[in-house]
Amino acid sequence: YNSIKVNSKGHLVIGGCDAVELAERFGTPLYVIDEDVLRANSRIFYNALKSHNPENEVVYAGKAFLTTAMCKIIQQEGLGLDVVSGGELYTALKAGFPTEKIYFHGNNKSEEELIMALQSEVGRIIIDNWDELELLEILAKKLNKEPAIYIRVTPGIEAHTHRYIMTGQIDSKFGFTISNGEAFKAVKRALTSGSLKFKGLHCHIGSQILESTPYKIAVKIMLELLKEIKDTLGRGVEELDLGGGFGIPYVEDDSYQPVEEMLRDILEELEAQVSLLKIKLPKIIVEPGRAIIGNTGITLYKVGGVKEIPGVRKYVFVDGGMSDNIRTALYGARYSAVIANRVYNGRLEKVTIAGKLCESGDVIIWDILLPEVKKGDIIAVLNTGAYGYSMASNYNRLPKPAVILVSKGKAEIIVKRETYEDVIKNDVIPERLEEKFQ
Ligand code: LLP
Repeated sequence: YNSIKVNSKGHLVIGGCDAVELAERFGTPLYVIDEDVLRANSRIFYNALKSHNPENEVVYAGKAFLTTAMCKIIQQEGLGLDVVSGGELYTALKAGFPTEKIYFHGNNKSEEELIMALQSEVGRIIIDNWDELELLEILAKKLNKEPAIYIRVTPGIEAHTHRYIMTGQIDSKFGFTISNGEAFKAVKRALTSGSLKFKGLHCHIGSQILESTPYKIAVKIMLELLKEIKDTLGRGVEELDLGGGFGIPYVEDDSYQPVEEMLRDILEELEAQVSLLKIKLPKIIVEPGRAIIGNTGITLYKVGGVKEIPGVRKYVFVDGGMSDNIRTALYGARYSAVIANRVYNGRLEKVTIAGKLCESGDVIIWDILLPEVKKGDIIAVLNTGAYGYSMASNYNRLPKPAVILVSKGKAEIIVKRETYEDVIKNDVIPERLEEKFQ
């Protein structure tokens, strides 16, 4: 809990705001994003990449958390934006995000989405497979556009949280496989296309990666492919997008390498390999999502009650759950939490923080030590900025919580809390069901 701030009332403070007051003012559950931490994270990436080569780009992966206000901050910090759907692209366009800095990803972009991307002239479209390559070519010709593209390749590395394994034949739905020559063929095909502008290669090796080693392996594999392309096709590849995946610590025993260090290692490996292979240094792109937004956010919940099963477990019930944070149920993710209204006060006990949804697996944190929790307490779950709101659902018809942005003691709404009216707004009762059933 090193970075936790507490005021004279013993309340948790975020962005200069008393978290208990935020819960009272905006209601719970509540997502809170600390703007200053968000900007600081952005600058770590920006400075590391730009000081290495001003041509390099940091592209924020919107899937981690995207709203129109978020687009504004990302734009102000000089980052690009990675979108993976028409919905994310629409969000960026509505926020006035510079389209040349938008990178469009995904393994099954629809015709409608590709047309949207072509018409808005996004900066890069990342081609994932043969069908997409053909479709984009046809659409580009039809609309008289010449999109700049990357070919996404599968480097054959599977990076997991701590372990990574090299696999010759990778089983992934994403990208063209390198080891069977598909990636090379795709590049060759893209280079001869009359309507696509081949700009570079992309790879993404996983998420919540806590050390630089798998990235260094990816750099080596990708540069070898670059060299093969140069040697056999006579074409230098200008841009190399290494994807995202930079991990953050969620609990105290998560051992991790600070991101500055990871980036330094990766860029050093890049320099070393480039001189070894005698190829030109490509422009480097990274696409962090979690490492930009993850530690900026907390979720505030109100405790509605506790249930103790003697000798078994003590449950603490909060007013949200897997509908606002599915990561524990889905991935067995781990989180830290504090009682926002008395962070350090009380005898520690082991509790399980469960949600209010109708499923036994609806748990946010299994077995956490907290000062004795009572009905009415405000629980703050930490580091929920990434893949919390963006993966939220209306399961059990719960309205999605509000998102507020805090900075220097000020709090502003960036996403309004859903109402029950919002929950039913797309429901339709066919007229025939209004009649008497017979
Ligand atoms: N670029 C590409 C092509 C990606 O597929 C992803 C994430 C990223 C960038 C950003 O990765 P990040 O830096 O955030 O790790 N829902 C999961 C994470 C899924 C990530 C999918 N792709 C979770 O909650 O842990």
